[in-house]
Amino acid sequence: MAVELNHVYKMDCIEGMTSLPDNSVDLIIADPPYNLSKGGNWSWDNSVVLKGLGGNWNKVMESWDAMPLEEYWKFTLAWISEAKRILKPSGSMWIFGTYHNIGIINVVCQMLEIEIINEVVWFKRNSFPNLSGRRLTASHETLLWCHSGGKKRQYYFDYDYSKNGVFESDLIKKPGKQMRTVWDVPNNKTKVELKFGKHPTQKPLRLLERIVGLTSKEGDLMLTPFCGSGSECVAAKIAGRDYIGFEIEDEYVELAEKRLENAERGSKLPPKEDSSRINPTLFQERK
Ligand SMILES: C[S@@+](CC[C@H](N)C(=O)[O-])C[C@H]1O[C@@H](n2cnc3c(N)ncnc32)[C@H](O)[C@@H]1O
Repeated sequence: MAVELNHVYKMDCIEGMTSLPDNSVDLIIADPPYNLSKGGNWSWDNSVVLKGLGGNWNKVMESWDAMPLEEYWKFTLAWISEAKRILKPSGSMWIFGTYHNIGIINVVCQMLEIEIINEVVWFKRNSFPNLSGRRLTASHETLLWCHSGGKKRQYYFDYDYSKNGVFESDLIKKPGKQMRTVWDVPNNKTKVELKFGKHPTQKPLRLLERIVGLTSKEGDLMLTPFCGSGSECVAAKIAGRDYIGFEIEDEYVELAEKRLENAERGSKLPPKEDSSRINPTLFQERK
């Protein structure tokens, strides 16, 4: 199959990535199934307790998110192997997860000699409270930032943007200071992000815009194996990057396509503060 740029394909991502040549993609943003939906009824279901895990994560009950552990392991190994093959030596791959699956992803990356550059904690300051009062309120997700593993470490990183970019809603990032590995990004979405419908695990655009700005250049190609509502593709498009998405569910392909039709290419390039204009006294520690 010839894969075209700037297109969301309704297909399994492993099959889709197999059609792409080696070293052909600049950036991969992967938000895979977290495998949280085991043992319940499909649809929104808060009643299911996950063996050994639990927490406030059990509201997503989707068939694409439920695999026996061994199957999830094999699936993870298969898609990350393909992702490594298509990623350029200068490219980056970002993978989302929670404690339910990020351990498996971390081990698979190490097995495949993919180097983990940083582990980022996405702190969700507006996370849903723990209703049972039997454990702490889960308020973060994890992101692994990786490159394909060559010893020369050729991955692209916009250090200037990481330091001097504008990250308005983040109360941890200080203007003009190095970006840390804890990102304070509220999980609420704007009206525009929800205009055409919702996805149960939709990521906020401002989080993806940051990833795109840190690790790709204008005109680069971003691929997302698990496209969902298309947030990664929208973030790439508005930042003037090309994109390819794979998604197995019809309704999400349609949702992603509508969002993409309404997003203007290059309309939101990663903003940078002019560091010479920053008055440091204006940015004291926030309490
Ligand atoms: C965690 S969600 C991604 C949500 C996305 N980040 C967003 O903001 O909308 C994972 C998506 O991957 C899709 N999916 C699951 N297995 C897949 C596969 N093998 N190939 C392609 N898509 C898959 C699911 O249908 C689901 O929409």
